[in-house]
Amino acid sequence: MEKLMSLCKRRGFIYQSSEIYGGQSACWDFGPLGVEVKNNIKRLWWKAMVQENDNIVGIDASIIMHPRVWEASGHVEGFNDPMVDCKECKRRFRADQIDTAACPECGGELTDIRQFNLMFKTHIGPVEDSASIAYLRPETAQGIYVNFLNVVNSSRQKIPFGIAQVGKAFRNEITPGNFIFRSREFEQMEMQFFVKPDSADYWMEHWKQQRWDFHLRLGIRPERIQWNEHGPDAMAHYAKSELDIEYRFPFGWSELEGVHNRTDFDLKRHTEFSGKDMSYFDQVANERYIPYIIETSAGCDRTMLEVLADAYEEEPGEKETRVVMRISPLIAPIKAAVFPLVKRDGMPDIAREIQQELKSTYPVFYDEGGSIGRRYRRMDEAGTPYCLTVDTQTIEDNTVTVRNRDSMEQVRVKIDDLKSMIRDAIENYTRPETVDSLEHTYVGI
Ligand code: GAP
Repeated sequence: MEKLMSLCKRRGFIYQSSEIYGGQSACWDFGPLGVEVKNNIKRLWWKAMVQENDNIVGIDASIIMHPRVWEASGHVEGFNDPMVDCKECKRRFRADQIDTAACPECGGELTDIRQFNLMFKTHIGPVEDSASIAYLRPETAQGIYVNFLNVVNSSRQKIPFGIAQVGKAFRNEITPGNFIFRSREFEQMEMQFFVKPDSADYWMEHWKQQRWDFHLRLGIRPERIQWNEHGPDAMAHYAKSELDIEYRFPFGWSELEGVHNRTDFDLKRHTEFSGKDMSYFDQVANERYIPYIIETSAGCDRTMLEVLADAYEEEPGEKETRVVMRISPLIAPIKAAVFPLVKRDGMPDIAREIQQELKSTYPVFYDEGGSIGRRYRRMDEAGTPYCLTVDTQTIEDNTVTVRNRDSMEQVRVKIDDLKSMIRDAIENYTRPETVDSLEHTYVGI
């Protein structure tokens, strides 16, 4: 994990927030490569949910909502984590994550357990009193529920149908950590699917399969994901059944995203708290009911950590170890890098021309600095699938040397064929079989 964090900083994937001021804990900034990966993940999610399903539409709701929303949702009352403080070293812990007999750091005495609400509070307008309290949303889902009637009345969608949203969420986590895995500001990619109550089990199975397939589309090693079903004690207050897709991160199996049967809990509560009838008249079944909701709720940052952790590989070489990010070309931040072998004989001009030609379709990077070997290594760490080198032969026959990130093989390809070669890599990538570098860490699991 430390090696991955250091690579992320070195290459411009992820930086700590406000670093020059000592850092803002549990908040992260995405650099030039990181923002590309994140955008690609969000785009792919949107494509898989909204573009490829006629019965799903998107929205983008505001982060600050009416405070009654969070009373109806149960967050004001119940979105709490149990917290204890150490009286000696003053460290703070989640009581459900430690043995509360004594402080796990110093052995000191702990305070009684207190409930700590995870929502960030703010005030709307100039007066800071209880009437002006507002919250930063702790999940994007509620923005979808409160717009259920708007979407039904404006989009011609009929049940079963879904509403999707990607956006920021905020939680004042007591024990954030593991890099971007648990932070205080993060992004969710959520889809709420409204169904006839007696078809909820069918749709739960449907969405389980779809969400599993999504991770395979990201190019993730299938042996590193698994399902985890929550028992009755571990379920959220709204859920009837809850399943998580977990990824085997360097720190162990942990939740990536959830598929939940939320029943009619949310729409019933909003009916009760807003006074607006959120039931639906089903013309096919000729009956009125409050729809059940099947939710798929993924963390964008966690998905990004999954992609980065899965891609990271170290290959021992004769002189040095090669660090390579085997990110699927579909989500790689740069699809190809163009190098002039040397900075003369017109090579930089040809290389620039190639970059110019390709960059209207793909993010393509130009680099003429340093030895060709060093330039390859930088692109290996950036996860760039191809390096295209202009050399003396290019001037003779309009071909370039194409070096493959995964195999390090070099072949000559006509300049005119580069665009289709990159497209083919994006559409048909298969990751080479390599030794799983995590194996040794997980002896016995
Ligand atoms: N609407 C349901 C909901 O929010 P959740 O299990 O609390 O369910 C869904 O959160 C997903 O959001 C998680 O599976 C995770 O990927 C992401 N997530 C939750 N808290 C997070 C945090 N503090 N940092 C990063 N991602 C988080």
